[in-house]
Amino acid sequence: MNAPAHPAQVLAGSVAAGPVLAVDGLSRAFSGSKVLDGLSFVVPAGQATALIGANGSGKSTLLKCLIRLGGEPDAGRIQMLGCDVRALPPRDLRRFRARVGMVWQRHNLVPRLSALSNVTHGVQARLSGPRSWFQALAPAEVRAEAMACLDRVGLADRAMARVDGLSGGQQQRVAIARMLMQRPEFILADEPDASLDPQTGQEVMALLLGLVRQDGLSLLVISHRLEHTLAFSDRILGLAQGRIALDLPTAQANEPGLRRFFDHGVAA
Ligand SMILES: Nc1ncnc2c1ncn2[C@@H]1O[C@H](COP(=O)(O)OP(=O)(O)O)[C@@H](O)[C@H]1O
Ligand SMILES: [Mg+2]
Repeated sequence: MNAPAHPAQVLAGSVAAGPVLAVDGLSRAFSGSKVLDGLSFVVPAGQATALIGANGSGKSTLLKCLIRLGGEPDAGRIQMLGCDVRALPPRDLRRFRARVGMVWQRHNLVPRLSALSNVTHGVQARLSGPRSWFQALAPAEVRAEAMACLDRVGLADRAMARVDGLSGGQQQRVAIARMLMQRPEFILADEPDASLDPQTGQEVMALLLGLVRQDGLSLLVISHRLEHTLAFSDRILGLAQGRIALDLPTAQANEPGLRRFFDHGVAA
């Protein structure tokens, strides 16, 4: 297949060498209770890595720690996209975050605006500098890029539709298109399929995997469905008791071995 004319393409080669993320000894506690207990792992560039773990095992906490959202980790080293994340001063941290695309279960789109307007706003995340940078961009170029991003998620024909008139799956696609406006190099996704029906959830997972396969992006995705984990990842990391209790290529995984990471509150 020919490379699609998409903004993410520009960055496809930039993360090819070495891991996109290396975490060493990461710890995070809430009121004295350790959620992440000195865990270490590596995420290879250009792959889809699934993070699994029972409810409350700390998956979301881990993902937020990686970009220093929701408070600082207590200990550990985070090397992402060539940056020592914990050492970044606030201004550099904002710039760094612009290179990381986040996809959440709840997407915070503006419901009364069109899909295209919502996606256009994604450019602001990329331009974390002074406002004048944003104003210096030609509106026609921003609009064309937003249309390309909507096209990438299969929604070019819904560009002018109000977001509150779209289905849940379409809204998640708009959120992904908005994230692509950032021209991210690495995508972190926290249960992007959680509030969708199985079929639609599967389509969203396939779309994210397509960004890895066709656009050369790297992905770390929290998955709460065993079948999605097996179908849409290259590698699996299993979180239990604050540590990485499983780390293997998906091709070597099997259902019985993974099941304990999907059961409620079961310890490793
Ligand atoms: N901001 C917070 N304050 C206090 N406890 C928290 C906070 N965030 C998460 N926790 C606790 O950390 C544990 C892991 O939560 P979370 O990372 O959301 O798990 P998961 O995403 O795997 O379901 C839970 O026990 C949760 O109650
Ligand atoms: Mg969670």
